Amino acid sequence: MDVFDAIFTRRSTRSYRPDPVDAGTLDKILLAGRHAPSGSNSQLCHFLAVTDPAVIDTLAGLVQQAFSRMETTENTYISLRWSIKQSKKGAYRFCYNAPALIIIANREDYGNNVADSAVAAENIMIACNALGLGSCYINQLRWLNGDPALSEYLRSLGMAENERVYASVILGYPDTADGLPERTPLPRTGNLVTYIPAKK
Ligand SMILES: Cc1cc2nc3c(=O)[nH]c(=O)nc-3n(C[C@H](O)[C@H](O)[C@H](O)COP(=O)(O)O)c2cc1C
Repeated sequence: MDVFDAIFTRRSTRSYRPDPVDAGTLDKILLAGRHAPSGSNSQLCHFLAVTDPAVIDTLAGLVQQAFSRMETTENTYISLRWSIKQSKKGAYRFCYNAPALIIIANREDYGNNVADSAVAAENIMIACNALGLGSCYINQLRWLNGDPALSEYLRSLGMAENERVYASVILGYPDTADGLPERTPLPRTGNLVTYIPAKK
């Protein structure tokens, strides 16, 4: 797929078949993430590629527990408010039913940690679309960086003491009628462009 097609047709996929992602395909997707630019070429992203359903289940349970302990106000970010409400009902699964989750950690004391993680996440999502896999950016693990139980579990998976989660992406084979990722066009009504051409 042409790079512009991969960018322009990428949409978030939130329904997946349980089939594991082929190992070679996952490696290629991770390589796309690793090829993202980084501030001063720091290359400090740490990709935790989770494909063990038991680990994904444990993470989902810890996320639900953490959210169910939180309260909302009218100022709570709308998506976070929904996550908390669903968690209190025991009906929340932050990673939907995806068979793979790439957690992007980075050093807590590094000023470009969020930016480097986000550009790597975009590379991963574009690569997924080009390869016919669905993907979706997932923010809950970043919101819950301060949760002790979740941090301890992420450390047991290999996240270093001086790292925190700054982005994550779920991916897998889409559970759609045609087996292709969600690609319904989403009109651009925001993301303003102001041209400042050279004066003639
Ligand atoms: C920073 C960021 C955080 C996001 N967090 C979540 C999330 O936690 N859960 C989710 O389902 N989608 C999440 N999304 C996906 C957005 O909802 C989605 O990109 C947006 O609605 C536009 O739809 P599209 O991706 O299909 O073009 C996130 C996207 C970004 C860029």
